[in-house]
Amino acid sequence: MNFLVIGVLVVLQDAAVGSIKVVESYWTLKANELVVDEDMSKYGSKVLVPLVCGEAFEGQNIIWKRENKEELPLHGNRVFVILEERQGGTYTCYNTEGNYLNHTLVLVHWRYKKIIKGTPQKGYIHCSTNNYSGFFQCFWTWDETRAGKVEFVQITRSHTVGNISCRLEPSESSITCQDHAYCPYAEEMDHINLTIYFRSNYIIETYNLQFQISDIVKPDMVHIKKKNNILELQYPESWSTPFSYFPLRFQVKEIRCRRKRNCDCSKRRSKVGLTQKQQWPLKYGVTVCVRAQDGLTNSPWGEWNWYKPQMTAQDTQGYCHRSGCNMKKWMGHAKEL
Ligand SMILES: *[C@@H]1O[C@H](CO)[C@@H](O)[C@H](O)[C@H]1NC(C)=O
Ligand SMILES: *[C@@H]1O[C@H](CO)[C@@H](O)[C@H](O)[C@H]1NC(C)=O
Ligand SMILES: *[C@@H]1O[C@H](CO)[C@@H](O)[C@H](O)[C@H]1NC(C)=O
Ligand SMILES: *[C@@H]1O[C@H](CO)[C@@H](O)[C@H](O)[C@H]1NC(C)=O
Repeated sequence: MNFLVIGVLVVLQDAAVGSIKVVESYWTLKANELVVDEDMSKYGSKVLVPLVCGEAFEGQNIIWKRENKEELPLHGNRVFVILEERQGGTYTCYNTEGNYLNHTLVLVHWRYKKIIKGTPQKGYIHCSTNNYSGFFQCFWTWDETRAGKVEFVQITRSHTVGNISCRLEPSESSITCQDHAYCPYAEEMDHINLTIYFRSNYIIETYNLQFQISDIVKPDMVHIKKKNNILELQYPESWSTPFSYFPLRFQVKEIRCRRKRNCDCSKRRSKVGLTQKQQWPLKYGVTVCVRAQDGLTNSPWGEWNWYKPQMTAQDTQGYCHRSGCNMKKWMGHAKEL
């Protein structure tokens, strides 16, 4: 009985070494970069990856090295390297004289999303623009525990032949893009398809987004100008023209913030008024918060701007003096909104 068990074990071990599977799913990310789709359930932690030095070197005696270290026990133009536990690497091939011929970086694509921060609900990459010029930016936040970098950015229009160029900002936390073929005056029929490939060690993670400019347009801050007792709500300079073709809608919130130097419009609860008019009557002692949204879509609201009346010494005195009797009236104003 004991002999039988030992015998079986030996056979199994041999079978395991000889049975490393050849990877079925792999693709070229860019020149000299091969990405293997990880599938532990299919292959286990080891998998064979086919590499070719080059078509021109068929039939030659070729030498292979990993990370330019010791020679691997592999010969010929077409070889299989063992990928173990996500340890990719740069495989370089040489002729027998030791001259460099070519190289391939082997990377592993897994399904996790760990290199940048986010959740499936909130998303990972956020794109935004302040007008309909075809310009936009996409942002993300690195996870501090992983040394991540952008390996590749792929961006296309879903149907039409677009021409979108992107560049990585020096902070490496955003890309700035321009759709050169974008026409602001025509209805946007197709989607922008953005895929960013992030890399950490030999791991590749892919992040895909599809959106239209009209989904991500977020106007800059509204300018507020006081004229007598009217507040004029002015379109941001960066907004697309003509304004009649690109109307904005405004949210207006009247709050009282006497003591705080800065009024945080987003945190103050108050009834919000909606208007497309560019005039707002100013009420005594009230701070007016305003933000804008594209008037024709449901894209994000811009940041709040506010108009806070300047209290002169006299105003303040008067205010203090009248606070007892006029407080209720002001609250009444806020409720009327
Ligand atoms: C080098 O290898 C790449 C694949 O990694 C291949 O596309 C390319 O044609 C090779 N270059 C030459 C000169 O054979
Ligand atoms: C978006 O781009 C990715 C990467 O190129 C591609 O796999 C996917 O099929 C594209 N999706 C659409 C809807 O075009
Ligand atoms: C894309 O647009 C830019 C700027 O207009 C231009 O320089 C470039 O040649 C265009 N590329 C293609 C492929 O059309
Ligand atoms: C659109 O916004 C970009 C970025 O702020 C700016 O450079 C460009 O001038 C704006 N376009 C128009 C028409 O204002």
